[in-house]
Amino acid sequence: MRFPLAGLAFVAATAALAQAPKRSGFEDMSPATQAMQRDDAANPGLFFALDGKAAFARVEGAAGRSCADCHGADGGGLKGVAARYPAFDERSGAPVDLAGRVEICRREHQQAPAWPRESRPMLAMTAYLGLISRGAAMAPPDDPRLATARERGRALFTTRLGQLDLACAQCHDDNAGRRLGGALIPQGHVNNYPAYRLEWQAVGSLQRRIRNCMTGVRAEPFPAGAAELIELELWLAERSRGLPVETPSVRP
Ligand code: HEC
Ligand code: HEC
Repeated sequence: MRFPLAGLAFVAATAALAQAPKRSGFEDMSPATQAMQRDDAANPGLFFALDGKAAFARVEGAAGRSCADCHGADGGGLKGVAARYPAFDERSGAPVDLAGRVEICRREHQQAPAWPRESRPMLAMTAYLGLISRGAAMAPPDDPRLATARERGRALFTTRLGQLDLACAQCHDDNAGRRLGGALIPQGHVNNYPAYRLEWQAVGSLQRRIRNCMTGVRAEPFPAGAAELIELELWLAERSRGLPVETPSVRP
């Protein structure tokens, strides 16, 4: 996606919009796209989540364990987990998002080969963890060890980027609800990832979505897994606090 230069005229901070009630991107979609998300039989993200469910029960890796062996059948103790990430990882001493956390379990608890972030099995597993968290209110941890990274994410969100010299906040805080070219600017909430995007014709992660907006302002996107992306994810989760998880979602 490339944002049209003509859209630049709209940028003027309006405190009123910044204080608007939280609104999931779902509410800004056409009735047809909303219907596709609501109907599990029509939502392509559901197929990914069901693949993830099957993988959860499958023994993989040298340790000879499935996710379910440790976490319980049908997701067991992990219900609601998608509402609580990114979280602090004790061993690395750094914040990890849900894909990062799954990767730790694969490596350390299963001794299984890595799943790259945008690979089908990783998207399927994170979609499944989202599915078993559906309806849970976004509740990012209050862990003080996350504060510095979250603050960096907030600062990044308000930093002008790229050739268009636009900050995330100028669109998603100041101009949400307005149109940019053909697209309606959503508040930019993250209670719905991974998501199936009609534009991608594929399921993608939140990092892919953020990288897409960076390309939109003609900035060099941070590489997948970069600390800056995790920091942005931390701030985005805080902005979305209280919204119900709706993974796997559909977006335009
Ligand atoms: C051998 C046991 C074991 C296996 C197998 C395992 N995990 Fe874990 N998992 C753990 C433990 C223990 C923790 C708690 C953190 C830690 O000490 O690593 C954890 C933590 C997690 C968390 C974070 C939970 C939270 O509340 O923050 C997620 C998500 C998770 N695992 C997903 C998975 C997935 C998905 C798989 C399969 C791909 C898997 N795990 C395989 C033992 C396991
Ligand atoms: C020029 C305006 C603009 C800027 C700047 C911008 N975005 Fe976006 N963003 C959009 C538009 C428009 C969409 C919706 C695209 C669509 O539906 O086709 C979007 C979608 C999103 C979404 C998906 C929300 C959902 O409901 O799934 C997230 C998250 C997001 N942006 C985050 C960011 C971040 C983080 C930055 C800064 C790195 C950023 N955006 C910069 C315009 C912008």
